[in-house]
Amino acid sequence: MKYVLVSGGTSTLGKAICKLFIAEEQTVYCAYSSSEQKALELQQELGPLLKPVFLDVRDQSSIDTVASQLTSLDVLVNNSGIFSVYPVEELSTAEIQRIFDVNVTGLMRMVKAMAPLLQASKGSIVNIASINAFHPGFGGTSHYDASKGAVVSYTKSLASELAPHVRVNAVAPGLLKAPYLDETNALRKLYEERSLLGSLVDADQVALVVQLLANCSAMTAEVVTVDSGYLAG
Ligand SMILES: NC(=O)c1ccc[n+]([C@@H]2O[C@H](COP(=O)([O-])OP(=O)(O)OC[C@H]3O[C@@H](n4cnc5c(N)ncnc54)[C@H](OP(=O)(O)O)[C@@H]3O)[C@@H](O)[C@H]2O)c1
Repeated sequence: MKYVLVSGGTSTLGKAICKLFIAEEQTVYCAYSSSEQKALELQQELGPLLKPVFLDVRDQSSIDTVASQLTSLDVLVNNSGIFSVYPVEELSTAEIQRIFDVNVTGLMRMVKAMAPLLQASKGSIVNIASINAFHPGFGGTSHYDASKGAVVSYTKSLASELAPHVRVNAVAPGLLKAPYLDETNALRKLYEERSLLGSLVDADQVALVVQLLANCSAMTAEVVTVDSGYLAG
C-alpha cells in the first residue's frame, strides 16, 4: 500500500490523478483549499481510500499540519495551480505575486514540508507544469507562463538535490478538455488546428503520465509534455 498526496485534488486534473491511484488501491490524500464539498463528493464516488485534507499552499503552517498528521508518504503530486489573463501593461505586481505564491512558492513550501517523509520512503514528486513554460500562451499569460517555467527549472534542480533517494519529475500538459471549451470556443479551435492529434488534452491521459512518473524507478529530472502534439505542430 502506497500513500499519495495530491494538491488541488478536486480540480479537473487532480480528480483524474486521484482516480488512477485509487484504482491501484493506494491511499490518496486529496487536498483542497476551498472545495471541501467537491472533496467529499469525490470520496463518495471513489470510496474510503480517498481521504480529503484541507491544505492551503500559501500557508506553510497549514501544510506543516498535514505533514505532521501523515505517518508515511510515497508520492507527492504538486497539482495546485491558478491562472489569469492580463496584458503586460495591465499586470499588477500584486497579481504577479498572487500567481507565483500558489504556482511556485506554494509548490516549494509543499516540498519543504514533505521532503523528510519522502526521503524516509524513497518516494517521488511529480510537479504539474504546463506547455506554457516552453511556448507563449494565447496572450496575456506572461506571468503564468513564467511561473510554469519556474516549475520546470525547480523540478530539475530539486531532482539533483534530492537524488538518489527521492525522484522528482514534472508533467507539462497542453490545454485540458473542460466544459467551457465547447465546440464554438475560439481557443479550442486554435488548439485543435495546431496540434498534431487535432484535439484538446484529456485529463485522464495526463494522469496516466503522472502515474508512470510516480512508478518508474529509472526516471528523475524529466519533464514530460502531454499536449496532443501541440508543441510539435
Ligand atoms: N486546465 C488546463 O488547461 C491546464 C493546462 C496546463 C497545465 N495546467 C495545470 O494543471 C494543474 C491543474 O489544473 P486544472 O485546470 O485541473 O485546475 P483547476 O480546475 O483550475 O483548479 C485549480 C486547483 O488548484 C487548487 N488551488 C488553488 N489555490 C490553492 C491554494 N491556495 N492552496 C491549495 N490549492 C489551491 C484548487 O483547490 P480548491 O478548489 O480546493 O481551492 C483547485 O483544485 C494546475 O497546476 C494548472 O496550472 C492546467
